[in-house]
Amino acid sequence: VSERSAVQAGAEVLVASNRGPVSYGLEEDGTLTAKRGGGGLVSGLSAIGPETDAVWVCAALGEGDREAVRRTGGVLEPGDTGGQRVRMLDIPAEVHAAAYNSIANSVLWFVHHMLYQTPLEPVFDAEFRTQWAAYETYNAAFADALAEGAAPGAAVLVQDYHLALVPGMLRERRPDLRIAHFSHTPWAPAEYFAMLPDDIQRKLTLGILGADRANFLTRRWAENFVACAETGLGGQCERVRPEDGAPGIVALVPERKAHTTWIGVHGLGADARFLRERAHRPDVEERMAALRTEIGGPGRRTIVRVDRTELSKNIVRGLLAYQQLLADRPEWRERVVHLAFAYPSRQDLAVYRDYTAEVQRVAEAINAEYGTAGWQPVLLHVKDDFARSLAAYRLADVALVNPIRDGMNLVAKEIPVVSDAGCALVLSREAGAHEELGAHALTVNPYDVVGTAEALHEALSMDDGERAARTERLAAAATALPPARWFLDQLRELRGEDAQEGTR
Ligand code: G6P
Repeated sequence: VSERSAVQAGAEVLVASNRGPVSYGLEEDGTLTAKRGGGGLVSGLSAIGPETDAVWVCAALGEGDREAVRRTGGVLEPGDTGGQRVRMLDIPAEVHAAAYNSIANSVLWFVHHMLYQTPLEPVFDAEFRTQWAAYETYNAAFADALAEGAAPGAAVLVQDYHLALVPGMLRERRPDLRIAHFSHTPWAPAEYFAMLPDDIQRKLTLGILGADRANFLTRRWAENFVACAETGLGGQCERVRPEDGAPGIVALVPERKAHTTWIGVHGLGADARFLRERAHRPDVEERMAALRTEIGGPGRRTIVRVDRTELSKNIVRGLLAYQQLLADRPEWRERVVHLAFAYPSRQDLAVYRDYTAEVQRVAEAINAEYGTAGWQPVLLHVKDDFARSLAAYRLADVALVNPIRDGMNLVAKEIPVVSDAGCALVLSREAGAHEELGAHALTVNPYDVVGTAEALHEALSMDDGERAARTERLAAAATALPPARWFLDQLRELRGEDAQEGTR
């Protein structure tokens, strides 16, 4: 298939995100090996393949991807991508690096997750301006590809903070399109967002307000966005409430052309059918057996966490809380094991490499302090292995999800669905998932290590009946909006169609 013919075909539904459903590794002998991407965005969107014939536009992320683009013209067929039609864009490596590493992941991710360590950060200097220019170029490359590939009146669903400028750019190029934007992250409170240079704040909010619909994972993030738009855009922005009482909206009166952006909340849930089926395959059973051997001892309890090695996931404080538990509650020594799976992420950034080393150091320190001949208190695994994650989910007595801030956190939703014997959930109040799961979880302040240790003790001590009952309620809440429905609801809304019964 040539690039030209795919473009001419004109898609009715397009999805755009930085990371696509697959990424390719390039072996020394020239073979390309496909690997599924990590993170909530890919988990949510991977379900759309069988439901729509959407074309997923994404960026080439490394040398393997660039080679795949050279060989295919960027048009990847469903057989190679896990059921998805994919158009991969080969944006020049230095432009992509500045946009992805320096702006998206070092500035926007940090702002929305409130990760800066003042007084040294952030510094918006001349170098930042150069990187910002690359972010604009990269967003424009997506806007161009979408404008080219979309049929008249098509629906375009743009994803995440990497592509915040795309809705505005695309509206200018193709006013006929229906455009949505979805934020998979939190949105910063207005006072925190205000640390960005004023013109950048305006560009980011106006970029998203180029969409007909700006969607968020929780009401809290949606409200923050509206507040940022109101503060940053002054008189150009007005909050209006539709008669039917649906979520608040922002009416924008920009220099260009007036239109209304509706603000929506769509809380992505776990895919119970997929997870339960996948978690009972032989490769998962094998890994469960291996983990049981590693855990050792009869009847030991397990505390499980599975994350990208990500600053906002708060892995180090989670380990410190476990260490505090062993100090405060000696009765748990030898009787509990912490399975901590921390998979490498964004390793181009020094701060992520340092954090990865710190996680390793703290885990080793706990093992050195408390470990005995027959008991290793922390089993830290860093090699990404989805089957082993599912094995740990099934073995979990307690799930630890303690992010500093998190758009949703799908792990909190997945573990209760898959756990064999039921698991208690220790959950940060700052995870988006807390809005839906908080009533059945043990809530923690992510900064409070002593409080988290107490919650771990409570979770480990919970009687079997209560744990099972809570797990059932957690699983029900976690699967209320499975990915395919989450996507189709947004698509229907964007097209102005009424919700239909039974579409999943
Ligand atoms: C979060 C973001 C996604 C991103 C994922 C993995 O979930 O919202 O957009 O894809 O993290 O991060 P990465 O940088 O590896 O794509």
